[in-house]
Amino acid sequence: MKQHDRLTLDSRIVQIGVGRDDRTGAISYPIYPSATYRHPAVGESTGFDYTRSGNPTRQILEEGLADLEGGARGLAFSSGMAALTTLFLHFSAGDHIVVSEDLYGGTYRVLDQIFGKLGLASSYVDTTDTAAIAKAIRPETRAVLVETPGNPLLGIADIAAISELCKSRKLLFIVDNTFLTPYLQRPLELGADIVVHSGTKYLGGHNDLCAGVLVAREEDLGERLYFLQNSTGAILPPQDCWLLMRSLKTLPLRLERHCQNARQVAAWLARHPRVTAVYFPGLPDHPGHALSQRQAKDFGGMLSFRVESNELARQVLQRLQMISFAESLGGVESLMTLPAVQTHGDIPEPERLRLGVCESLLRLSVGIESAEDIIADLEQALA
Ligand SMILES: Cc1ncc(COP(=O)(O)O)c(C=O)c1O
Repeated sequence: MKQHDRLTLDSRIVQIGVGRDDRTGAISYPIYPSATYRHPAVGESTGFDYTRSGNPTRQILEEGLADLEGGARGLAFSSGMAALTTLFLHFSAGDHIVVSEDLYGGTYRVLDQIFGKLGLASSYVDTTDTAAIAKAIRPETRAVLVETPGNPLLGIADIAAISELCKSRKLLFIVDNTFLTPYLQRPLELGADIVVHSGTKYLGGHNDLCAGVLVAREEDLGERLYFLQNSTGAILPPQDCWLLMRSLKTLPLRLERHCQNARQVAAWLARHPRVTAVYFPGLPDHPGHALSQRQAKDFGGMLSFRVESNELARQVLQRLQMISFAESLGGVESLMTLPAVQTHGDIPEPERLRLGVCESLLRLSVGIESAEDIIADLEQALA
């Protein structure tokens, strides 16, 4: 374990589960599908009693996730929404949270249409402006939840500054780190209390798995989240825990290629005459470029762009050949979405339009195919 602590993040990711199955020495940690476990005697346990409460395969994954994010406790869920829902159950009726307005539509939907009815209020603000967050805080505010880079407009929030604000106001600070992953951005080290992921995206990385993750910086908060996970039960099944562990091992390699491709595609799109705006923090004229350089290792593989008209956006989606017109992001295959009708369709239209999420805006999850082929596909689709 001492040696493990000295390893780089790249090596620790590859080594998840290695040397943990003492009986067989398995390199790939086994899948334990057992739902329940024999007790050695009354009042005794092997450490595992029932799989919702604890599973050996999930334990290895959860320890690996906590290690990668630099937190005390990691928890794996059946989807990103299951992780967020469990997290929101931490709050009580009458509480209020401040949330990024540029965020995944499903997070908006669960807060607005489910938790809102249960008495948890939320306000949506431009979290690229820390002063706007401060202004939205009320006496009953308990937490700030930030997605950075934002979704779909890729705005950058200042994690360290928001963390200072939250500390001074005794608020929980939660960062959805789905777009960049702990390989590129480390919110807990910048002062966040909890990191959330849709593990369906870059952590899983192959568009073949639905998963969610919470990591808490401190043990007591981790214990509280574990209580909620065990009590409500939206755990990641053992087979999927194994698949997520397997996928994580190539995270650095995949992300390097995603980032490299996204830089090339963004630069190409920015020069295209039928593209009217490109939203990518790696472009020097992006308002969050300098902040992103300071707080993240690279700019990630996500970008959005606006085309001349709604008709052209539809034409592009119709004509794509290699790139798939599909929801989701973060997999090795390039995917394009129309956020206004897909990922952000549940945000009321006036609010969407105010943010600029209209039907001429396309979001591209740049995959790890060759940049040349991605650009060629975009070129013929935009022609
Ligand atoms: C940033 C972000 N957070 C959370 C979620 C929800 O995750 P899942 O789809 O795995 O439930 C998504 C899904 O797209 C997302 O993009």
